Amino acid sequence: MNDCTIILLGATGDLSKKKIIPALYRLIERGIMKNCIIVGAAREQVAAAEIIKRAQEFIGPIDAAAWQTLQNSFFYHQLDFTHQSDYQTLNYRVKEYETKYKLSGNRIIYIAAASPFFCAITRNVASSGLAQRLDADAPVWHRLVYEKPFGSDLKSAQEINRCIHASFFEHQIYRVDHFLSKELVSNIALLRFTNIFFEPLWNSHYIEHVQIILDEPMGIEGRGGYYDKAGALSDVVQNHMLEMLALIAMESPATLQPDDVRNARAELLTHVQVVDGILGQYEGYTQEQNVAPNSKTETFAAVILQIDNDRWGSVPFYLRTGKKLDKKQTGIYVTFKKVACLLARQCPTAQNSLNIQIDPSPCFAMLVNAKKVGTFEEVEPIPMEFCQNGILPLAYETLLESVYKGDHAIATRFDEIEYAWKITDTIKAAHFPLYPYKQGSHGPVELEALNKKYDIGDTYEIGNHRFGKDGKRNCPTRN
Ligand code: BG6
Repeated sequence: MNDCTIILLGATGDLSKKKIIPALYRLIERGIMKNCIIVGAAREQVAAAEIIKRAQEFIGPIDAAAWQTLQNSFFYHQLDFTHQSDYQTLNYRVKEYETKYKLSGNRIIYIAAASPFFCAITRNVASSGLAQRLDADAPVWHRLVYEKPFGSDLKSAQEINRCIHASFFEHQIYRVDHFLSKELVSNIALLRFTNIFFEPLWNSHYIEHVQIILDEPMGIEGRGGYYDKAGALSDVVQNHMLEMLALIAMESPATLQPDDVRNARAELLTHVQVVDGILGQYEGYTQEQNVAPNSKTETFAAVILQIDNDRWGSVPFYLRTGKKLDKKQTGIYVTFKKVACLLARQCPTAQNSLNIQIDPSPCFAMLVNAKKVGTFEEVEPIPMEFCQNGILPLAYETLLESVYKGDHAIATRFDEIEYAWKITDTIKAAHFPLYPYKQGSHGPVELEALNKKYDIGDTYEIGNHRFGKDGKRNCPTRN
């Protein structure tokens, strides 16, 4: 495999510490990234060893040899994102390392920075020669990775994209969304289209509603400067949640090859209609560091969407996310319609439900009714499950490995980003009411009225799985 230099811009930030450096460590440990060096760059004056030490607590058990390799191959260069001359010096240093370690000049420029910097960074990277516009068949490759959210609305995303294209070819650009690298998310299309029994049921005749949930107990963790401008809608709805929606609701792609899947995802997003919603802000948010004291930024959003096509009709798609909630729960819950209750004695029966649980433990489970042992004509809901056991690759590990191998499957195409911003801009323009909520709660109390209005119900637990909607209310009792 190719050698390479990974230039990590924003090396002292939260993302690098918690996700990118741990992922690089894992790739070294697994022997995937051989002959690669990492050159971190950021404004802080700090030693390279200190940066990786800060990341250590996010890595888990350490293998001494792999840790030593990471230490030996990690360098640091102080740089101000806006100073062109800093990039020239960085490029000079990178060339020295490439000569010293006999590297061929393949480069990944990982831009772990907020999108308002993307254009200036790209221009500086290009004009300093840190990365060059190279044909796909050139003897070396230069690849640029841009974090989400790509822009802060449709217009800014388009400007950034134009700016990047002025210097680089599309095949060099990776607009990443780490959710697409999560095991269970990348499983959605495979699950839907390699099993014959899902597709005939996958429509408004059989599905009552779909919930896409990204609830988090953690807060904004020192990211006030970024988060107060983004809010939940730009931070996770525009990207992670709409990507999950696209995968769960898209039409069958021509093949399961990445380009066909991207076509199907993008097409789906053009049919999304914004129907209703509420926003929330946790109590105490305005006292967080770098948050405006009168901030109206949402840390919670629950939105009802519909998909205007023959398959989905008026099926509600319920997207809910929030910070400082009671638990970590990321998943997609598909609730099927009720069956007529034919049992003489025991009603109600639970509605069938498919749970694609992404975090904390990746599993999918189908809720079916089965006879209760030792009873006559009584059923109970049983989860049929598949759980991914063993050590799974981290989402950022898969993401970095894919960029290193030149595989765009984990990246979003710009048209998907544009459609997702159109939807997010429409949600923002709807000015849904913003309610306060208690830390550690389910969200604003007003959520219940929204759930009732669309007959959504809360998710409930059976075995180790959660399913959409309370199973007890579904079938009228027959006597
Ligand atoms: C990030 C958001 O993209 O995704 C964070 O910026 C959020 O605010 C995170 O906490 C959730 O991802 P994960 O993989 O930790 O569930």
